[in-house]
Amino acid sequence: MSTPSGLHNDLQPLAWLAGTWETKNGLCQYPTMKDFQYHEELEFICIGQPMFNYTSKAVHPEKGTPLHQERGFLRVKPGTKELAFMVSHNFGLTSLEEGQFDESTHVIDLTSVSISRMSFAKPPAVLRFKRTIKLLDQNTLQVTVYMETENTELCKHLEATYSRKV
Ligand code: HEM
Repeated sequence: MSTPSGLHNDLQPLAWLAGTWETKNGLCQYPTMKDFQYHEELEFICIGQPMFNYTSKAVHPEKGTPLHQERGFLRVKPGTKELAFMVSHNFGLTSLEEGQFDESTHVIDLTSVSISRMSFAKPPAVLRFKRTIKLLDQNTLQVTVYMETENTELCKHLEATYSRKV
């Protein structure tokens, strides 16, 4: 069942997330690397099914060349605030994150519950990560990702503020 906007009823509490978002101020950091900036586009699109189809495409800010990419699905456990986010990452990893959303603050908190990597993925292996997606105002989204690898404790890897693309 979907509403006139095309959004499935299960996704109504997350209607604020639907659409395309872009950032020009992404900051990628980690203790093992030099900080750098990136541009990125995120899509959370409902095609009538009870899930958002998700894509993320990060590019180099000057050269426009592709960097990290993700494809996945975000689902709500119907009638609850529980979420599951299944994502495949272009560098050889698939992850299942689970968590909750808060309808009044418009915050989504997710933690990886399982991570698989292809046998020839570049080390180090990711052991755990946490992703927070927060609506700052109607047209502004903030995403942060903290990550733990086999070499490094949980530290911030990403922070970006996105504008709604019309
Ligand atoms: C949930 C999303 C992400 C995960 C799980 C992830 C994972 C990782 C891991 C495991 C490393 C290696 C860290 C180390 O050597 O200690 C890394 C490095 C890096 N990440 Fe990410 N990453 C994510 C998102 C992104 C995004 C969106 C970008 C692009 C802008 C990005 C760009 C980089 C770069 C450039 C490096 C350094 C690569 C190198 O030194 O070879 N990552 N990331």
